[in-house]
Amino acid sequence: MSMRDQSGGVMNHPSGSVPRRRRSRRIDLVVVAVCVLAQSAAVRASDPPHWSSTSITTDCTTPCHVTHQAAGGGLTTAAENTNLCQSCHNASGIASAMPVDDVHSAIPGVSGTSHAFAVDAVNVGLHTQLPIDNEMLLRIMSDMVVCSTCHDQHAAKDSFGGSSRVRPAQRTTNLGSTGALASGGTFTGADGVWYLVEIVQAGTANTARFHYSKDNGISWFPNLNAAGATPVALDSGVAVTFGSGSYAAGERWEFAATWPFLRAALDLPGGDGSAMCRDCHRTWDMDHVAVETGDGAPKSHPVGVVLGVNGRGYDRAAPLDGNGALQGSPGVDGNATNDLLFDGNGNIQCLTCHGVHFVDSNTLTEDGP
Ligand code: HEC
Ligand code: HEC
Ligand code: HEC
Ligand code: HEC
Repeated sequence: MSMRDQSGGVMNHPSGSVPRRRRSRRIDLVVVAVCVLAQSAAVRASDPPHWSSTSITTDCTTPCHVTHQAAGGGLTTAAENTNLCQSCHNASGIASAMPVDDVHSAIPGVSGTSHAFAVDAVNVGLHTQLPIDNEMLLRIMSDMVVCSTCHDQHAAKDSFGGSSRVRPAQRTTNLGSTGALASGGTFTGADGVWYLVEIVQAGTANTARFHYSKDNGISWFPNLNAAGATPVALDSGVAVTFGSGSYAAGERWEFAATWPFLRAALDLPGGDGSAMCRDCHRTWDMDHVAVETGDGAPKSHPVGVVLGVNGRGYDRAAPLDGNGALQGSPGVDGNATNDLLFDGNGNIQCLTCHGVHFVDSNTLTEDGP
């Protein structure tokens, strides 16, 4: 993997209002058995977007798990964990906006745009070790770091941090509206959600009325008025905006708002073995004190501390951007993906300088899949 992308530090948000989930579909007994393997006691076995919406089907058997003669361990259809993820996360798969192919896996100093995967967890040259975090340790497969070592593909939770995303709205029912619906805002919900928006009263961007559902249309929140170019807040920081044109009753759009399915919390201030990057890389973990009392072994740049912490006065108050101007938010150089981001407490962390995926290591170009 290479130098930083847009991926930020720790962001813990208060939970928004999440209505009680309902069973989204009828499921037969065989499927229930597999779902229990996937995540017991959950009504829905997985968080969106890794779960069915009104337009895509991702459930206990389709397309990840099969009930008989599965090639992979853990009843997965693909022989290896990375292959399973890549079966959708490739240029033509249903997660084509987020492809993570083998060619992207970093070979340090040589190539790649993603943290290395399908590599031995213990790398003598880079001093990496098996993770202490038990959930990550359980997903070291054949001694290797795989996607599921760092990701819990079933749970997209705010408590583990990372950058939340609100996906672009997709029209799923087309009844001839000429207006477009745009999703936006910053998602602060506790776990991933599919939002389904339906026009209930035809009209323009300013007169139409709509309602929305978070359980694929089983239950609906009260009707709201479209407000033209002004975003209409749904909940959890999510909003929708109506474009010029007309809106037909019954027309529907859907989008997921979610977290990056992390298995352990990203680096927290004073982070310990449970902080994701500093777990396998813990021998490199050091703060400003260790710089001066160092044991001579290789370490990373100091992390878990704020700028200027050693009182020597040589740190800037805020970093400069790629063009030499004081870094703004998003970047004053017009490129938000090269910004140096601190965690919620202003600390430098591994992800201040490093990104995880889709990182081109060139500050002059915008990163992206
Ligand atoms: C059945 C297809 C499918 C499989 C298999 C799959 N994904 Fe996904 N994944 C998706 C889709 C669809 C999205 C949403 C992509 C988008 O919005 O452009 C997604 C999004 C994600 C996200 C981003 C969530 C966010 O918004 O930040 C992560 C992380 C992720 N997947 C990890 C994995 C991992 C790890 C695996 C393997 C264990 C995996 N996925 C397997 C379909 C799949
Ligand atoms: C060393 C840990 C690690 C491994 C291995 C890993 N990821 Fe990630 N991945 C992360 C982290 C951390 C984030 C969240 C970055 C953020 O939001 O700041 C992330 C984010 C993502 C995203 C959301 C897009 C993005 O750039 O934030 C996708 C999709 C994804 N991972 C898929 C995969 C797939 C597929 C694999 C295996 C081929 C994989 N990851 C392997 C740690 C890892
Ligand atoms: C599960 C263990 C594990 C975790 C968690 C982990 N790493 Fe790594 N990391 C490794 C291993 C193993 C390598 C060596 C990869 C190789 O052999 O090419 C590595 C390599 C790297 C490299 C060198 C380039 C590369 O990708 O090969 C960087 C930079 C890096 N990690 C940063 C991070 C950051 C930042 C995080 C937190 C998001 C993180 N690591 C989390 C195990 C881990
Ligand atoms: C202040 C910025 C900064 C911070 C913070 C930082 N790194 Fe780095 N890291 C870099 C740079 C720059 C390089 C590339 C240096 C090179 O290629 O010689 C790098 C390279 C690496 C490498 C590859 C080394 C190699 O020999 O190829 C690893 C592994 C790594 N960092 C892990 C981490 C981990 C883990 C953390 C958090 C504990 C971290 N870094 C924090 C800037 C940073």
